[in-house]
Amino acid sequence: MILPILHYPDSRLRTVAKPVKAVDDTVKMLVKNMFETMYAEEGIGLAATQINQHLQIVVMDVPDSQDDYELLLKDRKNHSDKKTNIQHHPLCFINPKITTTSGHEKNVEGCLSVPDFQAQVERSSQITIEALNEQGESFTLHASNLLAVCIQHELDHLKGILFVDYLSKLKQKRLLEKTKKAIKG
Ligand code: NI
Repeated sequence: MILPILHYPDSRLRTVAKPVKAVDDTVKMLVKNMFETMYAEEGIGLAATQINQHLQIVVMDVPDSQDDYELLLKDRKNHSDKKTNIQHHPLCFINPKITTTSGHEKNVEGCLSVPDFQAQVERSSQITIEALNEQGESFTLHASNLLAVCIQHELDHLKGILFVDYLSKLKQKRLLEKTKKAIKG
């Protein structure tokens, strides 16, 4: 089932998610619906917060490399029927915690909750994350590059933080004005 996504500046995106108590059938169904929604909206990551479910759950499917990511974006831009053959890596993180970080890098980010907007954000370049998977098993993952960026972006959602919060006050004001205009049509 494809679920509706909350859009900036919706205040529900500011809700802090609660830990999942048990990975039961309800949680598994939510994870399944989150993957369906993420693929339908052509995102590479989705946090439960974005579909107004305030539990610590994130799903992701991040391309292998920056080159693959650029191909993916090009496909989308061209609305091409001939999709590139990109390797899929579905990942689910329940009650995730980043345990180590190192380095810094700037990347252009976008978000399904902030349509038609991209901006550069500085993040840690390498991270370690501990979480439960959709079977309720704990695992540890070391991530770098786009995967590390995406994990930090999605975990921010669970804390009620959006990538646009890192921009200058002026850029945030401009975005808000643009968004209001769009809503008015
Ligand atoms: Ni996002």
